[in-house]
Amino acid sequence: MDDLLRLARTMMVRAYAPYSKFHVGAAVRDEDGGLHGGCNVENAAYPQGLCAEAAAIAALIAAGKRRVTECAVIGPGTEVVTPCGGCRQKLREFADDDTPVWSADPQGWRARHTLGELLPASFGRDHWVPSE
Ligand code: THU
Repeated sequence: MDDLLRLARTMMVRAYAPYSKFHVGAAVRDEDGGLHGGCNVENAAYPQGLCAEAAAIAALIAAGKRRVTECAVIGPGTEVVTPCGGCRQKLREFADDDTPVWSADPQGWRARHTLGELLPASFGRDHWVPSE
């Protein structure tokens, strides 16, 4: 788990967040134990900004993996940083209700939720894609 925090912390340092100044890092573990990181990437056209979790998920998929077995997000401030609503849904595509989602600040771990706690009664591909 500490490897997950370490990568998320490195990602946070690399964030491109000149507008909000809110630097976020994320790391996800894949089905084979490999780690993938991402940071937020903002844009002068604000809605084009990318969240750290979305970047980490994209890295996992680009590496040829398909499952998120653990996720960590780290950000500054006094409030516990959890994935935004859109990122919860993005995680939902590749993770399970009981997948742990860790929150941290630069000092260390702050909270552990499951994806099901963060996104209860969620909608996913199982609702409409015939099972393979
Ligand atoms: N942000 C993330 O990267 N992940 C989250 O879960 C919450 C918000 C980013 C988006 C934006 O660049 C900045 O934090 C402020 O909202």
